[in-house]
Amino acid sequence: MKRLKVLTVFGTRPEAIKMAPLVNRLEQHNNIESIVCVTAQHREMLDMVLDLFNIAPDYDLNIMKHGQSISDITVAVLKGLEEILLKEQPHIVLVHGDTTTTFVASLAAFYQKIKVGHVEAGLRSGNIYSPYPEEMNRKLTSSLANIHFAPTKENYSNLLKEGVDGKNICITGNTVIDALLQVVKDNYVFHNKMLNDINYEDKKVIVMTCHRRENWGEPMVNIFKAVAEVVENNRDVEVIFPVHLNPHIRKLAQEILGDSCRIHLIEPMEYEEFANLLNKAYLILTDSGGIQEEAPSLGKPILVLRTETERPEAVKAGTLKVIGVSKKQIVEEVENLLTDEIIYRQMATASNPYGDGKASDRIIQELLNRIST
Ligand code: UD1
Ligand code: UDP
Repeated sequence: MKRLKVLTVFGTRPEAIKMAPLVNRLEQHNNIESIVCVTAQHREMLDMVLDLFNIAPDYDLNIMKHGQSISDITVAVLKGLEEILLKEQPHIVLVHGDTTTTFVASLAAFYQKIKVGHVEAGLRSGNIYSPYPEEMNRKLTSSLANIHFAPTKENYSNLLKEGVDGKNICITGNTVIDALLQVVKDNYVFHNKMLNDINYEDKKVIVMTCHRRENWGEPMVNIFKAVAEVVENNRDVEVIFPVHLNPHIRKLAQEILGDSCRIHLIEPMEYEEFANLLNKAYLILTDSGGIQEEAPSLGKPILVLRTETERPEAVKAGTLKVIGVSKKQIVEEVENLLTDEIIYRQMATASNPYGDGKASDRIIQELLNRIST
């Protein structure tokens, strides 16, 4: 029997975290020839994940440039993939989620009439400018994909509503749970001494991240000022904020939060360290997509610094609240969770709408069933 040739393409930290368990399993499978191409839309933040999951890419487009525009990424990925696809002629290209790497890799495969499998398909906020450009990237990728791996029933319904044929959609759970279950451990010891020294019982540790393009400018200023105010008002609060390597964000974070006591601005964390920090946190404050899926599994209240979410499952589960980007609202919502035990307990309930850690196995089974070699 001819082996199924699968070319997996990804480029940023979240894609790498969520594709890593799948790549590990593809590589172990006897009936699959797995090839990995990273675009390196992110460099350092991608390499940290590749190291953790022992992935050595076959191709590395190495496209990251500081301050790169979305158009720069688009052109470099499209051109870079052309030759690789021509040479490798895989049976299918796998992409993940909603970054510019995702959309452009799908387009490059389509141009050569190569099938596309979209992992984490069907998430929708309903607003093409929020998250920007991710909502459009997802929609465009859905138009180009031949198989849609939808994490949840809601994602499946979103695709049906847009006219995708139900027989081309498989509900698999989210591979982020596969990754999370692999790294989170009770009694985890951090490599970073500062994180080991914190008393997580006495302190209320808020883990924060913030990077979305639609929050650049005034919304991000509001978010940072709100956090500074909360810390000023609550002496038992410590904030750990691993700051994204995007220079826009680092500058602003340093300007507004750099001098606040009990706010630790640190470098992006290795995934194993970060996931275990989430597991010890009191609450999570973020505009990230992936963290909205991890927090419910860990039973951590999560306040989302955005005006809408494409992850309504976690809102229904009760762990997640979308609180917007006004300073007043953020301060009020965080202080509610710091002071009202009943509200806190209601939100700190472990529930896992995103899967059982077997999403990668389901995806591989579907690939083998559906693609003839
Ligand atoms: C990208 C994705 C976004 C995803 C996010 C995850 C697009 C348009 N955006 O946004 O969907 O949620 O990744 O983090 O696809 N940088 C480094 N080293 C790194 C990573 C980034 O120095 O390892 C700096 C570079 O200066 C780079 C900048 O951050 O130019 C922005 O990176 P980019 O990939 O363009 O956008 P993100 O905001 O990271
Ligand atoms: N993450 C990490 N180190 C950090 C911050 C986040 O490993 O310092 C992980 C986090 O657990 C999640 C993913 O990175 O799995 C989210 O990435 P990001 O917020 O950059 O992108 P998004 O999910 O918003 O697309």
